[in-house]
Amino acid sequence: MTVRLGVRSYPVYVALGLISGVGSLIAERLPSAAKCAIVTSENIWGIHGRALAKSLEAAGFEADIVHVPDGEKAKSWSEAARLIGELLDLGFDRRSTLIAFGGGAVGDLAGFVAAIYLRGINLVQIPTTLLAHVDSAIGGKAAVNHPKGKNLIGAFKQPGLVVSDPELLASLPEREMRSGLAEVVKYGVIADSKLFKNVEEKGDALRDAEPDALTEVVRRCVVIKARYVEEDERDLEGIRAALNYGHTMGHAVETLMAPRMRHGEAVAIGMEFAGRISAGLGLMEEGELERQRGLLASLGLETGIPELKLGDILDALSRDKKVEGGSVRFVLPTGIGTAPVLRPIDKDLIVQELGRAGVG
Ligand SMILES: NC(=O)c1ccc[n+]([C@@H]2O[C@H](COP(=O)([O-])OP(=O)(O)OC[C@H]3O[C@@H](n4cnc5c(N)ncnc54)[C@H](O)[C@@H]3O)[C@@H](O)[C@H]2O)c1
Ligand SMILES: [Zn+2]
Repeated sequence: MTVRLGVRSYPVYVALGLISGVGSLIAERLPSAAKCAIVTSENIWGIHGRALAKSLEAAGFEADIVHVPDGEKAKSWSEAARLIGELLDLGFDRRSTLIAFGGGAVGDLAGFVAAIYLRGINLVQIPTTLLAHVDSAIGGKAAVNHPKGKNLIGAFKQPGLVVSDPELLASLPEREMRSGLAEVVKYGVIADSKLFKNVEEKGDALRDAEPDALTEVVRRCVVIKARYVEEDERDLEGIRAALNYGHTMGHAVETLMAPRMRHGEAVAIGMEFAGRISAGLGLMEEGELERQRGLLASLGLETGIPELKLGDILDALSRDKKVEGGSVRFVLPTGIGTAPVLRPIDKDLIVQELGRAGVG
């Protein structure tokens, strides 16, 4: 598939076993790529590093490996600075290529650094989590966290190439798989009832990392994500915002629960919350909301708001990038597979809905 963005267009390859062909894909796509460095965590490198190293070697690349902390700890200003220091020591220049090999955390950090190092260098995304396959590796949003909130320091950095091998997902812990599946459900609700139905039918196979089932779903999600990104690359037209379905309350809960909650787990909670507001306003039928709730539950995703203080949730919401005057902008679903709407929601209504969910 191609993400069509004029001069920033790039291919996304999705196929089983593709890791062994990464080297030649990079050589083909980025012929001037001189130096390469792989950004990854020790955990990911320990599981899949050999396959990637072999593939790069076979294509004649000498890649340095730069380890960053595992998971969300990678996404900090100080890690970005440390990574930049390592690249300077390695003699990275403007023709060098950074390869992000990991989940959304590694991808977001590497993307951010690739955007700012010497005003921008080549980036290749090789996602290793389901969430990164279907979401974070495509679209160019890159960021690190600030103590006051997630993703507050960032840049747009489209990769030059994305190489997805769903075989890498066989080693993914069940909890990470579930977290990625929440984003898959998100795509189903906002854009594709067939995808939603597919997940309803193949939920167990997907949770068990059945390769063909995963490949089909990943391909579908990539197409959907690419379409939104093409129409609204910088998230300014209110089109790409649909991808934030479940993320308004999701980010608030995720920040407050850090590091105990996975991104997708928070998104599942956020989708239920936005769905309830939608149903309350008559934008979505109760039956559709129940279907969403049922699918999330069958995938092992909780939808209730965790035990948190009302004031803390409201504070976290008010720091959301989507805040507008006294209200917070929510992406509200209109059904399964139909385009959602973006609406400012009054604080009073949010408090009322949180009360119904047991917060107060
Ligand atoms: N840029 C975007 O558009 C975008 C979109 C969605 C989410 N995100 C960001 O992505 C981050 C979450 O990413 P994530 O859910 O991929 O988690 P993650 O990157 O934190 O990885 C989760 C865990 O899975 C392990 N892991 C990764 N691949 C593995 C594999 N193949 N086998 C075994 N273990 C493996 C990692 O070592 C880590 O411990 C969040 O910071 C979120 O903000 C960004
Ligand atoms: Zn997300």
